[in-house]
Amino acid sequence: MNKFYEDIVRGLSSRSKYLESKYFYDAVGDKLFQDIMECPEYYPTRCEMEIFSQQTGALSSLLRSHYNDFELVELGAGDATKSIHLLRRLLAENATFTYYPIDISSNVINYLETKLPLQLPGLKVKGLNGEYFEMLERQKRDSSRPKIVLFLGSNIGNIPADGVDGFCKELRSHLNTGDLALIGFDLKKDPRTILAAYNDKGGITKRFNLNLLRRINDELGADFDLEKFEHYPVYDPGTGACKSYLVSLAEQRVCVGDTECFDFKEGEPIHTEISQKYTVEQTNDIAANCGFKPISHLYDSRHWFLDAVWECV
Ligand code: AVJ
Repeated sequence: MNKFYEDIVRGLSSRSKYLESKYFYDAVGDKLFQDIMECPEYYPTRCEMEIFSQQTGALSSLLRSHYNDFELVELGAGDATKSIHLLRRLLAENATFTYYPIDISSNVINYLETKLPLQLPGLKVKGLNGEYFEMLERQKRDSSRPKIVLFLGSNIGNIPADGVDGFCKELRSHLNTGDLALIGFDLKKDPRTILAAYNDKGGITKRFNLNLLRRINDELGADFDLEKFEHYPVYDPGTGACKSYLVSLAEQRVCVGDTECFDFKEGEPIHTEISQKYTVEQTNDIAANCGFKPISHLYDSRHWFLDAVWECV
């Protein structure tokens, strides 16, 4: 059977039910996430957009002070609206590079491969559709030039705090000394601001969360009743963990395909996503623990978001 099916069954069989957030991103989920980015409450995209649009020159100089010939790899590129500013600048400054967007969504990769060369004439794009590290390995077969890895949008927040060192060490193991990583972290701030970003009044985030059940119904022949689950986000300012759940509104049985069925109690949650928030000090510790050295910190004007540039040491 396929990996999607196995991962869903594993998550729903667990004592504390969960679903992996990477499965949000099919064509419908991509569109819903774009709608989230337009929500007045969802600040991270606008913060990072401010950094990429206002500090493009500084960023591009910093990168080019390390390399003029390199490969620019982006993990979880999405619609690339932020990176586009940097790409345009690097092209204008005659840097030599190929842009390798990596994304779990084939929809995203198709979109970028057709759209970007039209928007940025002369840009070399090679999309990689799949998991981050598998695709980084594939990219390596293509080129041995130094790498600059973008991991924007606080995508890193989807990794639980106790797994982030493991993730960054693995990332480091795919890179060479001197390579750079530019990582976007959403910073701790007023807890109400954070919670509201995952609980918008327009109900887009709720639809985004529930869409995962719709996708499982469509692709794996499940019979989730979307009316019987409630979107429930929580933020703990102590740990910095913002978690989203789908809570069963009734005692019910849900079947995935013909053979696997799962019982839900009323009030039982499915954990669907974590969006971890950090302090700057915590991000510096992660770098130090994982073989990186922070060489620059870029912030938006409110200091709500950090784009950290790390060098592999
Ligand atoms: C795309 C993972 C950065 O965690 O903030 C937005 C996804 N989920 N609203 C995030 C998301 C609910 C987003 N990332």
